[in-house]
Amino acid sequence: MTKKLLILTGGGDCPGLNAVIRGIAKRAKKEKDWEVYGSIEAFNGVLNEPQEIIRLNSKRTAGIHVKGGTILKTTNKGNPIKFPIIQADGSTRFVDRSDELINKLKALNFNAIINIGGDGSQKISKALYKKGVPIIGVPKTIDNDLSATDLTFGFQTAVQIATDSFDKLVTTAESHHRVMIMEVMGRDAGWIALHTAIAGGAEICLIPEIPYDINKLVKRIDSRYKHGRGFANIVIAEGAKPQEGSITATKGDKGSEHVRLGGVAYQLSKQLKDAGCKAEIRETVLGHVQRGGTPIAFDRVLATLFGVKAFELALEKNFGRMVALKNNTITSVTLEEATKEYNFLKKDSFLVKAAKGLGISFGD
Ligand code: F6P
Repeated sequence: MTKKLLILTGGGDCPGLNAVIRGIAKRAKKEKDWEVYGSIEAFNGVLNEPQEIIRLNSKRTAGIHVKGGTILKTTNKGNPIKFPIIQADGSTRFVDRSDELINKLKALNFNAIINIGGDGSQKISKALYKKGVPIIGVPKTIDNDLSATDLTFGFQTAVQIATDSFDKLVTTAESHHRVMIMEVMGRDAGWIALHTAIAGGAEICLIPEIPYDINKLVKRIDSRYKHGRGFANIVIAEGAKPQEGSITATKGDKGSEHVRLGGVAYQLSKQLKDAGCKAEIRETVLGHVQRGGTPIAFDRVLATLFGVKAFELALEKNFGRMVALKNNTITSVTLEEATKEYNFLKKDSFLVKAAKGLGISFGD
């Protein structure tokens, strides 16, 4: 009897999502008796009337591994357990639509669901699994902040994009005797920032895990200038904060559970000037270019292997698990384990110590 598999992508887009979809579809094709479908915009494709569910045949998935974004579209406003409803007065009300979703999935006769997404999406997977949904998670995020997997796909592509951009800023720093501040993404984790700082050769790297002392930064910058000449390159993570004071984060869009970060580079620039930094400063906020475009080869491979593994878990009826990379092996963990804690940079890790050994200042 034919079995039916549903794939969906949730949360922010990330280079490698299409490679996972293709990996699942190609591996499923080998089994002959599986049909693969995709839900448009995470679970909204199932919840919406009319439903938006497409058949993922070879024609739809051929060659998509080189494309950024997701052919299934995505949203961070589609949590079926806390579904946002915008009211007439503009306020947002959240309702639990999980039973409605489960009934619709049953009516569609899906034998397995593969949910590709970050922490928020995998928390949804866990809750649905507890309610009996045969679900498997695939971790994605450029932030690399999931502790159950050594790496998430998309991260290396983001680091490559940030490093390429950093290299382009260094030339202006050197030529104009400037301090160049480049802000990268990562939410509350400094992985993208620190990898970029090491790859690019930054003098200063500011991350959320190590709050900085602005006076120490001014001293470090001053030490690089003689008679007004010198330069410094700073990488700052969007969630980095000073030891005293805080950074501003704006409220997320209507229906989103996240606050929006971004703009800390401008705040740092002002703090440096207020603390007496004489150098000329310029700021660059990289933003979504870090998530855009084609995934680098490493992420295509990781994403494809995650896709194959996710399908094989479905084949074994090994539900309630998330695929993961551990010690260079593609494996899986329970959804419980997958969502237990975030993966933040540790101050006593070799990575941080090595960066300090290279002379990179964290401002601590
Ligand atoms: O989680 C990935 C990420 O790109 C973060 O690094 C960033 O803070 C956030 O998403 C941006 O989200 P949005 O696309 O909703 O602005």
